[in-house]
Amino acid sequence: MKRLIAIAMFAAALFVATSLSGFVLHGKEFERKLTPVMGWSSWNSFGRHVNYDNVKSQMDALVQLGLRDLGWTYVNIDDCFQNGRDEKTGRLRVNEEKFPGGYRAMRELVDYAHSLGLKAGIYSDGGDHACSSGGGAGTNPEGRDIGFYRHEVDDANMYLADGNYRDAYARAHPEDPGIECWGFDFIKIDWCGGGHAKLDDSEQYNKILDAIDDVERRMGKQKIVNICRWAYSGPWQFRADSWRSGPDISSRGDSWESVMVQVDIMKEVWQYTRPGSMNDPDMLVAGLKLTPEEDRSHFAMWCMFSSPLLIGQDITKIKPETLELYRNAELIALNQDPAVLSAGYLGDLVPGVEIWVKMLGSDRSMVRAVALFNRNSTAMDISFDYSIAGYEGDVKARDLFAHADLPVGRRRQTTLPPHGVDVLKLEPADKSRVIGPRFVSSCGNVSGGAEVEARRRIDWVNAFEAVRKGATLLDVRTAEEYAAGHVEGSLNVPHVRIPSDVAAVVPDTNTPIVCYCRQYKRAAQAAMMLDMLGYRRVKFVGDGYEASKSAPRVALADVTTTLVDVKGDGKGMASWASPWNKPWPSAKGKPNMGWGGKPISLAGVECGKGVGTEASTIGGGSLIQCEIPNGSTHFIALVGVDDNTPVREWPVVFKVEVDGREQAKTRPLVLGETHLFAVPLPPDAKVLKLFTIGEHPVHAAWAWAGFRTITTLAK
Ligand code: GLA
Repeated sequence: MKRLIAIAMFAAALFVATSLSGFVLHGKEFERKLTPVMGWSSWNSFGRHVNYDNVKSQMDALVQLGLRDLGWTYVNIDDCFQNGRDEKTGRLRVNEEKFPGGYRAMRELVDYAHSLGLKAGIYSDGGDHACSSGGGAGTNPEGRDIGFYRHEVDDANMYLADGNYRDAYARAHPEDPGIECWGFDFIKIDWCGGGHAKLDDSEQYNKILDAIDDVERRMGKQKIVNICRWAYSGPWQFRADSWRSGPDISSRGDSWESVMVQVDIMKEVWQYTRPGSMNDPDMLVAGLKLTPEEDRSHFAMWCMFSSPLLIGQDITKIKPETLELYRNAELIALNQDPAVLSAGYLGDLVPGVEIWVKMLGSDRSMVRAVALFNRNSTAMDISFDYSIAGYEGDVKARDLFAHADLPVGRRRQTTLPPHGVDVLKLEPADKSRVIGPRFVSSCGNVSGGAEVEARRRIDWVNAFEAVRKGATLLDVRTAEEYAAGHVEGSLNVPHVRIPSDVAAVVPDTNTPIVCYCRQYKRAAQAAMMLDMLGYRRVKFVGDGYEASKSAPRVALADVTTTLVDVKGDGKGMASWASPWNKPWPSAKGKPNMGWGGKPISLAGVECGKGVGTEASTIGGGSLIQCEIPNGSTHFIALVGVDDNTPVREWPVVFKVEVDGREQAKTRPLVLGETHLFAVPLPPDAKVLKLFTIGEHPVHAAWAWAGFRTITTLAK
């Protein structure tokens, strides 16, 4: 971390400092790394499949390919190495299938990195769950409760204190097994769990940073901290070595636009970067799916920004051209310039060609790097007058890709390929004056997505009202989640694809959008990206933090009965609850009940109203029929297997038929899965039939079922 803040309070609880003197370097100052870290991180390449062997192989590759010697030294394990937390001891568990030996494997990896002259990094969350689990995608149970929250001191010691510190402690205190210490050099601290637990970011991160400071003080070593809060969120972040300035880059590396979002954010926050504390526009995706030209621009801009450089691909499979890019010592020198100043945006030379200038050596320097960055998808002939970067006389310029000095002169003329960049290092050729430059963007404030999202959050009744008036309903969950259940008529643009895909489905940035998301991280990141792209009329709906609590796999579960007001008055529910050929006995006449008279419950959500049925084909499945009230435009129901169904694997299909024609059908749903129907009805529709079809006696329910008059829901 950047600053050493000695807080002994927490340490006292675990380590009795006096009894450890002799092997602990109390209060000793130490060398600090103030330039950005360079290395590799597991997330973009291995995601959930990170393991002992693939991490170790990256360490070997960095050495063998000569990257280590150019400064690429950090090997960081991201999310998904954990396996929850032991409830009794409160200790984090390592996933032993991926890292055989658990704690020992972690220490081995750190020791191995050090033996090769490398550094090792690890991941946690400021709150309770990891992003891969309930705090995030809600699908990885092993990532639950792995974060720092309520374990700040223990976890700071476990991750970062040296392994031999623990051994020495154990020798000094045989009565106390103490905690294991792994000795990592770097830690990334995410915020999905922090959002989920509704923690105050500054307060919680400061608490963790205090605990880490204490480890640093005792170890006499710097520990690099990256805060992954997806936005600049206040000066308190300067305590960390770097912080994520924006949402996730598309980790598959298939979205140039998602790279551009990071660049645009930098126009607002570039001035925050300083030695030892810098903006982090996320890990590199070069070498994955961008064009070679885009790879070069992406890497060059990250160097211009003095950002952390973490390779996001499997280095053992690196292509020669990517390797050459990452071996470009002149670009690396830009990134590692000791002044650690980010390039700022000067404006467009011609439309779509951006001018970025980075001061080298000091903020008053006469030596400057310029990037002429073509964001157009066509090649551009340009003539760049060096006076724009503040030079009044002749300039010595060096092309950092060609590794060649250019003729001394006053301008650069060249052709920039589509999405290509020209990076030059400039200095005055004689004693001519150097002024400026005048950056267009001063230090602005990109609101963190979470704040934007919170400010614009509405409930479902208002959301549907907005949709009725013409708003587009956007579902930003993953394609898999969308397939498992969504409002029909909503458009799916997974949050990481927003930069590349949203324009295709919502071309006009003035279109009102209602953005559905039931997960804190995605809502927050979607908010920021939509803002960056100029969509201003965006509202957010969904259960945000709440859904993550128990992570029920229920889609749009917060649709309320005010939306679908089904009354058991003989005209509503009772009439369309008959005739049916296989009702639950207890449901007959008591339409809002599931099996055995229990309330209908789908994926952990008690639905209150609806009809419970038996899906089994023994007896022909279930059929509910009713007349469609005049003027109805949509039939709406949340369907799924009732939680009282005894067997998890029994699937059931829900089908909606209008006047004898199939209108909508689910895929086979099993316990815990739901689907929300919002089926458009033809203008003169008369008879609705609802089928539940399965081979087992599944307790299937049509919850919140009813008719609506919505004019613009279906697209
Ligand atoms: C968040 C972070 C990513 C990555 C994932 C892991 O999305 O922003 O960089 O660490 O979590 O789940």
